[in-house]
Amino acid sequence: MSGAIFRIVALAADHDRRPFDSGCVALDHYFQRQVTQDIRRRVTACFVALTQGQRIAGYYTLASASLCLSELPAETAKKLPRYPSIPAVRLGRLAVHRTFHGQGLGGALLADALKRAARAEIAAFALVVEAKDEQAAAFYNHHGFIALSDSPRTLFLPLSKA
Ligand SMILES: CC(C)(COP(=O)(O)OP(=O)(O)OC[C@H]1O[C@@H](n2cnc3c(N)ncnc32)[C@H](O)[C@@H]1OP(=O)(O)O)[C@@H](O)C(=O)NCCC(=O)NCCS
Repeated sequence: MSGAIFRIVALAADHDRRPFDSGCVALDHYFQRQVTQDIRRRVTACFVALTQGQRIAGYYTLASASLCLSELPAETAKKLPRYPSIPAVRLGRLAVHRTFHGQGLGGALLADALKRAARAEIAAFALVVEAKDEQAAAFYNHHGFIALSDSPRTLFLPLSKA
């Protein structure tokens, strides 16, 4: 990562979400307008990277999820019990403010999400993501995520590797 120092913490009421601009309107709007409602309803958790000046440089969301055993690659499925669905954690959204693109923050947020999911007391086999486009899928591929055979935009990374 560059010289910038970030602190990754749970989103709080005094964090200013309004100036957040990742370059992806849907991700920015969700963060500015909807995420707190989802947190209140307990359908998502949100973590932010803060600069030393308390500016939000990036965010990600996590929620529980499941993967169908039959959708997993045979190589992975054969090492798992024959349950129809396998517990997972969904990385719902991940975005970095434009000013900080290309400085390692996206990778650092992803690593933080993996660690957080791996150390949770409730078991989950993998972190799963729904890549919004080819570029996002390439980002996750670059970090070792594996695509489901029938759904190449859905990618997972076993938490045993985190
Ligand atoms: C995608 C995004 C999160 C990446 O964050 P970032 O801070 O710019 O990326 P980083 O600097 O941490 O890159 C980490 C590594 O991923 C690689 N990488 C970044 N984007 C990539 C892409 N689209 N495809 C492949 N690799 C990519 C980098 O080359 C770097 O590799 P290295 O560690 O081997 O040097 C950021 O560009 C963003 O917020 N984009 C808009 C929102 C978005 O598209 N989100 C979708 C979820 S990925």
